[in-house]
Amino acid sequence: MTSKSRISAMTVACMLSLAATTHAEPNRASFPNDFDKFVLYATYDRGSSREEAFALPETIELSKSGQPLPVGTRLVLGIWSNYKLTDYFVMEKGIDWGLEVAEEKRTGDWHFQQFDTAFQIRRTAIANRCESCHQGQASSDFMFTRDRMETYLP
Ligand code: HEC
Repeated sequence: MTSKSRISAMTVACMLSLAATTHAEPNRASFPNDFDKFVLYATYDRGSSREEAFALPETIELSKSGQPLPVGTRLVLGIWSNYKLTDYFVMEKGIDWGLEVAEEKRTGDWHFQQFDTAFQIRRTAIANRCESCHQGQASSDFMFTRDRMETYLP
């Protein structure tokens, strides 16, 4: 490779990464810094893999009203694979956050994010599928665990 073509390859790589930044979906879901106050309200055991759903006690209480959960709500799903905790999946609802998301990916005002066990953003392939899967749950505020939350007793 001549130095000239190396430069143009770098320019192209640069432009591609810029394009990726410009078109990235906005995502405001953050890991709760009060996670120690969250309560485990549902566990889904599937042999070597397991999922654990956490929410604040006030979120669980509010869910019993049957209404959609309020702005500011965060839900956390602990993902276990091969008997090990590998990820935390977070859903967070904000004021008009849905308007920032392309209509075909919209899930009310929820944003979705994947974190590692040190609570840092770590996006694997599944991070592009959060919304499409949860869209099917529109009738229960885009949640899969709503029934378990509503019936949870401390
Ligand atoms: C293939 C479908 C699918 C995909 C993709 C998916 N989820 Fe879920 N999600 C579920 C199901 C089903 C549950 C209920 C728990 C269970 O059955 O394991 C759930 C539960 C949750 C919960 C607990 C609250 C609730 O909705 O009931 C959170 C938080 C969550 N998912 C976040 C995410 C995030 C973040 C992503 C992307 C990184 C994601 N999910 C991708 C199907 C999916």
